[in-house]
Amino acid sequence: MVCAANNKTTSILTVFAVYLLLQCLSVYGSEAEQEMPALHHVVDVEILQDMRLPKEMQADENNMLVCSTCHGIEDIKNQPYDEVDKNSEDFLRGGPYRSISEVNDFCSNCHKVEDTERLNVHKQLKADGRVDDRYCEYCHQKTPDLEHDTDWKEMKFQLGLNQLCTGCHLENPHFNVAEHRHKPDEKMREQIKKAQKNKNVLLPLDEEEQVTCITCHTPHEKGLLDPETPGGKQTADTAVEKGIEYISSPEWSLVVKNDKQERLHELKHKLYQAQKAGKLTTNEDLKQPIHYKKIDKEILLRLAAKNGDLCESCHSFKD
Ligand code: HEC
Ligand code: HEC
Ligand code: HEC
Ligand code: HEC
Ligand code: HEC
Ligand code: HEC
Repeated sequence: MVCAANNKTTSILTVFAVYLLLQCLSVYGSEAEQEMPALHHVVDVEILQDMRLPKEMQADENNMLVCSTCHGIEDIKNQPYDEVDKNSEDFLRGGPYRSISEVNDFCSNCHKVEDTERLNVHKQLKADGRVDDRYCEYCHQKTPDLEHDTDWKEMKFQLGLNQLCTGCHLENPHFNVAEHRHKPDEKMREQIKKAQKNKNVLLPLDEEEQVTCITCHTPHEKGLLDPETPGGKQTADTAVEKGIEYISSPEWSLVVKNDKQERLHELKHKLYQAQKAGKLTTNEDLKQPIHYKKIDKEILLRLAAKNGDLCESCHSFKD
């Protein structure tokens, strides 16, 4: 049924179609031994005549699109998919790719950029401040009426909350995302409840009550929702088009410094051990210390991260 809806939308908005089409792709994969990951690209299809593949991305002898065309991980087909090392540089050939524009570059190896480019659906206000509702239905099943639909719990979304963003963004768009895919324990849940009340902010967990993208990020441009409501509260010191900006400075707020530096040192050590034991394939030199980029301008975050406000809603750090 989702696939049928596609045909209608294709003519309206190509990129919307791309997004929905990707939902249907798991159907193709179900013939394989393991079901292909949700939203995965089609496989075992013929390369079109007008596609010129780069040298390092080869079709098989029948000119079919196979795993090794796109992935540099050997024998990926026979590994449990949830254990595949997505941080490996060669996970996608020519990688690593992190930002959306980098992934667009990857797709453009075979497709015309316009066909696969992701739209910035967070641009929700026109220059004159009026609502631009062209993109609401990328995420919402029905464009919410800003006056009457004010409770997100009553809304239906195109995909599960944990999948809404990964059609466009990578699953690990930045450091520390995978580490957050957990259900907070009892104590933390209490802390979250308090923070939501005291800071008048929304920190929604997904259907499995796990932390996900929208727990920390708001998908809405500032000004779309009433800033006095928990859902409308957010930090925005730059424009949605610009994105988060960094300065390279060794100075950190105490909270972030204590937390990140120590834990990351530990994590790096673990990764290095895993690399040595051959359990991790990455070309990164893990012996080097990590240097953190300090956030300068924030956008699409529910609370500021640069002063620790966001992190402290869930974590307690000792000075
Ligand atoms: C046209 C290119 C292409 C082909 C061919 C391809 N993949 Fe992928 N694969 C991708 C992209 C793009 C991603 C998404 C990366 C992301 O979002 O992090 C991905 C993600 C994955 C993931 C991780 C998904 C997850 O959500 O955990 C696995 C596992 C995977 N592919 C396995 C395979 C296997 C097995 C094959 C062959 C049957 C295959 N891929 C063929 C492009 C391709
Ligand atoms: C190695 C070449 C290659 C790369 C890289 C690639 N694709 Fe494709 N893609 C194909 C081929 C071949 C097809 C099947 C022919 C067609 O329908 O255009 C296809 C089909 C598609 C379709 C239509 C699926 C369907 O069911 O008809 C979409 C959408 C798509 N690709 C999006 C993407 C996106 C997004 C990326 C980047 C993440 C990407 N592709 C990267 C080769 C590639
Ligand atoms: C990238 C995905 C995405 C887009 C695009 C998007 N939304 Fe949402 N929207 C969500 C999610 C997820 C929630 C639930 C949690 C929250 O408030 O962030 C939500 C919640 C809402 C709520 C309820 C807020 C509350 O406090 O309960 C309203 C109203 C809303 N959206 C309106 C819109 C309108 C209008 C548009 C288009 C101009 C839009 N959204 C575009 C993902 C999106
Ligand atoms: C625990 C909170 C948290 C979670 C969960 C989280 N993020 Fe972030 N995200 C941040 C913070 C804080 C930043 C700002 C800069 C940084 O620390 O790298 C950020 C930055 C970003 C950026 C900009 C990166 C850049 O380098 O410009 C994108 C895109 C992004 N997040 C998307 C996502 C998506 C998609 C998910 C879910 C798969 C996600 N985030 C999950 C907190 C989070
Ligand atoms: C249809 C595609 C699409 C979807 C779906 C989408 N985004 Fe985005 N997002 C974009 C584009 C395009 C940008 C602009 C920045 C870029 O090109 O990297 C962006 C930017 C962002 C940024 C700021 C990153 C920066 O550049 O500093 C954050 C944070 C973010 N998105 C979070 C989310 C979250 C959370 C969701 C899910 C609720 C989501 N996005 C869903 C396309 C999308
Ligand atoms: C909505 C609650 C929430 C927010 C906000 C949040 N975290 Fe977390 N964080 C978690 C959960 C849940 C885990 C999973 C492990 C656990 O239960 O401690 C986690 C894990 C971590 C880990 C890995 C811990 C380990 O031992 O592996 C680090 C590091 C971390 N968070 C730092 C941060 C930073 C820095 C921020 C602010 C940018 C932040 N967190 C924001 C809930 C949150």
